[in-house]
Amino acid sequence: MIELSVNVDKVATLRQSRGGVEPDPVVAAMICEQAGADGITVHLRQDRRHIQDRDVELLAKTIKTGLNLEMAAVDEMVEIALRIRPRQCTLVPERRGELTTEDGVDVIAEEESLARVVKTLRSQGIRVSIFSRLDEAQIKAAREVGADRIELFTGPYAKASTEEDQDREFQRLLDAARLARSLGLGINAGHDLDARNLPRVATIPNLREVSIGHSLISRAVFVGLERAVQELLAILRG
Ligand code: PXP
Repeated sequence: MIELSVNVDKVATLRQSRGGVEPDPVVAAMICEQAGADGITVHLRQDRRHIQDRDVELLAKTIKTGLNLEMAAVDEMVEIALRIRPRQCTLVPERRGELTTEDGVDVIAEEESLARVVKTLRSQGIRVSIFSRLDEAQIKAAREVGADRIELFTGPYAKASTEEDQDREFQRLLDAARLARSLGLGINAGHDLDARNLPRVATIPNLREVSIGHSLISRAVFVGLERAVQELLAILRG
């Protein structure tokens, strides 16, 4: 079964736009869980542009499924993760000024520091996934630094507009998944997934979890959060 982890960052983005208390991503997380979501994802950015420390503290205490904390592999975030103990940390690159995460981590360039971070988190029982570039050397490096899983960056596939480009990008996802599996890495996927591209992504062998934010919250504006979650679950569960 492929698990759906709902990313509620965009609920916090809306809240921050007015600097008040609503809508509350913690309430959103509860509604998603009640609708059947298997987990909740938040990205605590170093600039705190959407999710706040208070959100992750409360989510860690209140959600009944599992929290996936997306974070940069920096000491400040490691300290927070060790305190709140999410089910999974997904290590992502963070560039100031980017609208959203734009690429996987360059694991090769940061091999030494990533190995240290992964070891620290895993020693406290936290599963570690690395948001990964799709090339062979990067995936092998993710294994080298001790990650449990990689998250396949589905953005290029989702954004491909011609059938030819879609097929090429999808093949890259399949090849990356096959390599990850052969190395003993678990496989997650995320970025730009929606009701149209999810059916094909869900055919990737051994896929364990997808994390979906923007399209789901956008759909929820029109049909409500519960229905938006259930629509994607229906795709994942056939
Ligand atoms: N996975 C990672 C690593 C991300 O950074 C994001 C965006 O925060 C997502 C998945 C979710 O992407 P989207 O909001 O496009 O569904």
